[in-house]
Amino acid sequence: MKKAGPIAVFDSGYGGLTVLNKIIQHLPQYDYIYLGDNARTPYGTRSFEVVYEYTLEAVRKLFQMGAHMVILACNTASAKALRNIQQKDLAGIDPNRRVLGVIRPSVEAVEAISNTKHVGILGTIGTVQSESYPIEINKLYPTIKVTQEACPMWVPLVENNEFLKGGADYFVKQHIDDLLNRDPEIDTIVLGCTHYPLLIDKIKAYLPEGIAIVEQGDIVGESLKDYLRRHPEMNEKCSKNGSVKFYTTEQVAKFKQTAGIFFKGELNLEHIVL
Ligand code: DGL
Repeated sequence: MKKAGPIAVFDSGYGGLTVLNKIIQHLPQYDYIYLGDNARTPYGTRSFEVVYEYTLEAVRKLFQMGAHMVILACNTASAKALRNIQQKDLAGIDPNRRVLGVIRPSVEAVEAISNTKHVGILGTIGTVQSESYPIEINKLYPTIKVTQEACPMWVPLVENNEFLKGGADYFVKQHIDDLLNRDPEIDTIVLGCTHYPLLIDKIKAYLPEGIAIVEQGDIVGESLKDYLRRHPEMNEKCSKNGSVKFYTTEQVAKFKQTAGIFFKGELNLEHIVL
């Protein structure tokens, strides 16, 4: 058997740190490497082809670095690249390695939460245009009505540290109202972007009572735990010393300036070229 290695968590930039935080809470004993493609972020406004190319480069690199399993924490990468990588590329790279995304576990969660079977998705333009959420939800639950809303201002609000300030209210209310006007029966909303959990207090403030919010971090952490339980052969390939190492395609100092919004704690960080 090949040497056990860390679980890799990939994101277009900082946002995946929100997912990593939760995965570590659920599975603290494992080793992790986090890769943020900060030099080329955001992915949410880029074409299908470019997101696929960038994500595949990152996955190859993370495998070279010893990971047997890569989690695409980025919704846009999960929406635009995961299927191709799983179905076309993985067999040629190494069929024994795994690439998993954040959309499937979130989709599996909605049925049990929604009573009206009307679900709203908030995400980047790229995630919304890919139609990944409606396709995946309707594959599993054909009767659920899915309505999507792209919120292109929300990522920059978070990254510019404006998300707790008054100006953010305008953009949060605008998209919540727009979504609910298009389907007033929505009772469950998925935060389909790594950054949106940081806006949760403002989102809650503009949502009517009784609408459930699905946050991905815990769902992904739970689902990874379950996956490793069901796949002991993969679990054996994941080393367990409780370490976390960070890599960024940007300069280290630049990453550190903003990473604190998403991740509290010491950053053992290196620059990397893809
Ligand atoms: N990480 C991305 C996502 O979850 C948001 C940031 C970006 O657009 O790159 O969709």
